[in-house]
Amino acid sequence: MAYRVPRRDGVGEETQVDPPSLLSPCPPGEGSSVTEGGDGGEGGVRRLQFHGGDLVWASRRYGLPPGRFLDFSSSVNPLGPPPAALRAARAALRRAAYYPDPFSGALRRELAAWLGIGPDLLTLGNGSTELIHHLVRCRSPRRVTVVSPAFSEYRRAAEAAGCEVEEFPLSPGDGFALPMDALVSAASRSEMTFFCNPASPSGKLYSRTELLSLLEACRDAGGLLVVDESFMGFCPDRDRERATMIHLAGEEGLVIISTFTKLFALAGLRGPGWLAGTRGLVGELEEKGFPWRVNVAAEAAARACLGDEGYLRKTRARVGAWREELARGLREAGPFRVFPGHANYLLLRLPVEGPQAVAVVEGMGRRGVLVRSCHDFSGLGEGFIRVAVRRRRENMRLLRLLRETWCEVSGRGPSRSAPVTRKVNGGPSWAS
Ligand SMILES: Cc1ncc(COP(=O)(O)O)c(C=O)c1O
Repeated sequence: MAYRVPRRDGVGEETQVDPPSLLSPCPPGEGSSVTEGGDGGEGGVRRLQFHGGDLVWASRRYGLPPGRFLDFSSSVNPLGPPPAALRAARAALRRAAYYPDPFSGALRRELAAWLGIGPDLLTLGNGSTELIHHLVRCRSPRRVTVVSPAFSEYRRAAEAAGCEVEEFPLSPGDGFALPMDALVSAASRSEMTFFCNPASPSGKLYSRTELLSLLEACRDAGGLLVVDESFMGFCPDRDRERATMIHLAGEEGLVIISTFTKLFALAGLRGPGWLAGTRGLVGELEEKGFPWRVNVAAEAAARACLGDEGYLRKTRARVGAWREELARGLREAGPFRVFPGHANYLLLRLPVEGPQAVAVVEGMGRRGVLVRSCHDFSGLGEGFIRVAVRRRRENMRLLRLLRETWCEVSGRGPSRSAPVTRKVNGGPSWAS
């Protein structure tokens, strides 16, 4: 597949054919997949690589047991699940032999009350990825706009449903600002527009005022604006209040998606995802969806999370402090541009003339630390890495190993001695 991506020197675009083969030991052109078993693995299981956090894949690639990696490539709450949620999940296993409530009524009511919206505006799924796919399949829009760089499942869901996809790339050069007129015009050409807030991987938080103009454009065109707020819960109160659209749930043209897997660190349990929309849309999704989408353990864990305000306060305070400390450390660890982030991850840009993200990711992987190359995020290209914010001690280890890796792959001395220069054309450049 060929992509138009911004050049790493920030001047214009270039064509990138197939992502580099970092995520795939198979030859370029076969896509990001690896077959387990063909090389002495587990019986010919084809493993597709789309996301960070694949510890089984990392284990096969770097030769460490999955549990030995320090994973900064997927972004979940570094505090781990609330203990009450784990207790509730364990207790729910006593009901493992019975079907769960097909439509998760109790959780729906409690979550709706927690969000301050009506339960008939909510539907739940086995993680939010499932809901993204279900929504697109149900509505089968002719054309989908994805404001990018963004979570790849928006595009995958649209392609799987046979939609035409238009990426609307935001530029790292201007801090991923929204060129509103152009965006509104792209959104009004589609029946569905995906927007993530705070965005991943950039970490930028957009104001509700900006998104309201986009909503209006989508609505005027008879389409839907799908706002993914999966990471909104990590933002402090003041930021959430100026950005979240949840209080508008039920308004025509608006869909909000979020999940328990990130904020409450229930990714492995597939902590439920949720979708809020109009009564009509939610009814349609329920009618056309599978029953039993949320298993008994995930439902029990999620209900316990909702009662744990202390955990959320602690999450926001600690993640905010750790993120700022990590951002400072990253700026000192190498000649990296660190984008200001509002969630539990940070995006770094590598200097133009240095090694590519893939080399750094590989060097870190060999040291047992996983970070996310952003080469496969549409619109970014090969010079970007995303790292999760973890606990202070883990972040310090990341910084130490990143410094070491950078020295190794760049063949340079420690980065503190590398002064920053800027090119006349505005693209960042770094003197050795
Ligand atoms: C922006 C965004 N939205 C949604 C998801 C899906 O999360 P889940 O299916 O675990 O709920 C992810 C996962 O990485 C994500 O990054």
